[in-house]
Amino acid sequence: AITRVVGREVLDSRGNPTVEVDVHLQDGSLGRAAVPSGASTGANEAVELRDGEAKRFHGKGVRTAVEAVNGVIADALVGVEAENQALVDEVMISLDGTPNKGKLGANAILGVSLATVKAAAAAHRVPLYRYVGGAGARLLPVPMMNIINGGAHANNALDFQEFMIAPIGAENFFEAVRMGSEVFHTLRKSLSDAGHSTGVGDEGGFAPNLRTSDEALQFVVDAIEKTGYTPGEDITLVMDPATSEFFKDGVYDYAGEGVKRSVEEHAQYLAGLVSRYPVASIEDAMAEDDFEGWKLLMEVLGDKCQLTGDDVFCTNVDRLNDGIRDGIANSILVKVNQIGSLTETLTTVDTAHKAGYTVVMSHRSGETEDTTIADLAVATGCGQIKTGSLSRSDRTAKYNQLIRIEEELGSQARYAGRSGLYVRS
Ligand code: PGA
Ligand code: ZN
Repeated sequence: AITRVVGREVLDSRGNPTVEVDVHLQDGSLGRAAVPSGASTGANEAVELRDGEAKRFHGKGVRTAVEAVNGVIADALVGVEAENQALVDEVMISLDGTPNKGKLGANAILGVSLATVKAAAAAHRVPLYRYVGGAGARLLPVPMMNIINGGAHANNALDFQEFMIAPIGAENFFEAVRMGSEVFHTLRKSLSDAGHSTGVGDEGGFAPNLRTSDEALQFVVDAIEKTGYTPGEDITLVMDPATSEFFKDGVYDYAGEGVKRSVEEHAQYLAGLVSRYPVASIEDAMAEDDFEGWKLLMEVLGDKCQLTGDDVFCTNVDRLNDGIRDGIANSILVKVNQIGSLTETLTTVDTAHKAGYTVVMSHRSGETEDTTIADLAVATGCGQIKTGSLSRSDRTAKYNQLIRIEEELGSQARYAGRSGLYVRS
């Protein structure tokens, strides 16, 4: 049973405070989890509670959430069995009593939720991925590695937020990481030779002052080829334009490029990119409130491309069910802190899989050394993970954890490869 729940403020990868929680069990087991934080957040995410006290952390303190952990949440959970994850999450959700975890904070609830499952796994002396996923959990995800950062994650003119590589042709997860790392370093040299900055953005990808997606994609394709791999075969491209950030008054406003595109023009522009470059997957290709745009894009690109909903779904099963009903996408991005508990996250994954949607387990742009999502990717067998570039320990920590999991699974390990992505033909 849970004996102690301790919350504290620690720093995330952007240097902002976030919630860390320790859950102690009677047998001495400890589970510890730290909560991530987004920058280009969806409007319908569960509430990340910030103190708003201007004199502490510029208003970003999370002391209120920590007090909830150490106070009402701890009081309610001491004595409860950590194995009973659904009950633990339910107790916190009803203590909060709001539809969006706005009272106690999704950051408080998620921290306790994840620390609880880690404590339970420790008590059972099994790795987290196996505790959550069972004996059959052995599928290593294709990593989507974000090697050029733009949008809200970088201080450059790129309108699109993320340009990623996914080594679908790798033999195993470790080889995927090796290939990604090699391309990352080739890209660094290409950018430097062309006179561009090789400073990195929030997710560890380069943040050169390029202006168009064509320029960025060309740099990536060239880096893949120069490293000795075949674009589209060994390594495919993935984008997250994060369009909710630049959809204004019914128009996609490409401020960096200096062009405004109607919904129709934006869809055609994306289709053009897909025809010119081997892009297998696009996330948030349409804005969170542009349902007509999503439907249009499914007609234009739905049979060629994985179209992944991030902001539009917010890992929320009700929003996902609406999307499934209306046929707006074929894939969902899953971020534990968008919904705020493990149980709800797993329900969303399950619902997606049953509807034939693919699932991408995802980090946030503000991360910590916590590697829970690496285990969750294997536990759910989702086949894809998005966890940043091949630099910065907040990103590589997840890759390193997956390397360890693959090693531990040994001959039982399977790498999702090409089949991980939604590619019909
Ligand atoms: P965020 O961005 O974590 O800053 O919200 C990640 C994403 O849009 O996928
Ligand atoms: Zn996104």
